[in-house]
Amino acid sequence: MPPQWQEQQRYHAAMERRGIRSFVQRAGRITEGQRRALAELWPRYGIEAGEEPIDLETAFGRRAPVTLEIGFGDGESTVALAGQHPEGNLLGIEVHPPGVGHCLLLAERAALTNLRVISQDAIEVLARRLPDACLDEVLLYFPDPWPKKRHHKRRIVQPEFVALLARKLAPGGVFRLATDWAPYAEHMLEVMSASADFENLSPSGDWVERPSSRPITRFERRGGRLGHVVRDLAFRRR
Ligand SMILES: C[S@@+](CC[C@H](N)C(=O)[O-])C[C@H]1O[C@@H](n2cnc3c(N)ncnc32)[C@H](O)[C@@H]1O
Repeated sequence: MPPQWQEQQRYHAAMERRGIRSFVQRAGRITEGQRRALAELWPRYGIEAGEEPIDLETAFGRRAPVTLEIGFGDGESTVALAGQHPEGNLLGIEVHPPGVGHCLLLAERAALTNLRVISQDAIEVLARRLPDACLDEVLLYFPDPWPKKRHHKRRIVQPEFVALLARKLAPGGVFRLATDWAPYAEHMLEVMSASADFENLSPSGDWVERPSSRPITRFERRGGRLGHVVRDLAFRRR
């Protein structure tokens, strides 16, 4: 087993023992439409949770550049992006079942064929199920900010996570982040800037302009109502 992989395995085993995850499994209310979508549309769009390696070409039925969106919420941006880029494959990961159901409903309405969805901890999917250098772009929009100091360890952006992404992104691939929580934006910048594997695409060495391609999501609107400033970051895999 390559040493890098052993290191990741140890890291994940330790994380699991300590029960540190970037999300809390919420029960959440699920609508009838979302329930139907999970039952009826899952076979079309879903990739089962588990340990099996994922062959992306088989999963999408074609070879095309792959964008991964981590924690897509209710899938608004995911579905919009997949619709805007029929030439690419979009892989979405989300653990909240009502959000997954909502995303599937939107995907059906848009008649998408280039979207696949996984409902499993993104860290597990990256560490154990996806081959190295298989991703062209990774999106992390409005991840849970975990504002309390004692919860900072739950933030998904950590040096180990960045090292894992560096392995899964193809050279030249881009990692895009956005947050409306200023201290998390600073944390993202610090962790990303410390990685020798990534180059900041910001001309000023910090934030980038809001990409016009990034659809506005519910979380972004909520942040706007609260008067939060949204920060976008973009880093290229060296
Ligand atoms: C604050 S919401 C933002 C949702 C969406 N990106 C948006 O902008 O509307 C963060 C989402 O990430 C999901 N999430 C957090 N950690 C995750 C993980 N490790 N794997 C998969 N999903 C995760 C949560 O369930 C939640 O829906």
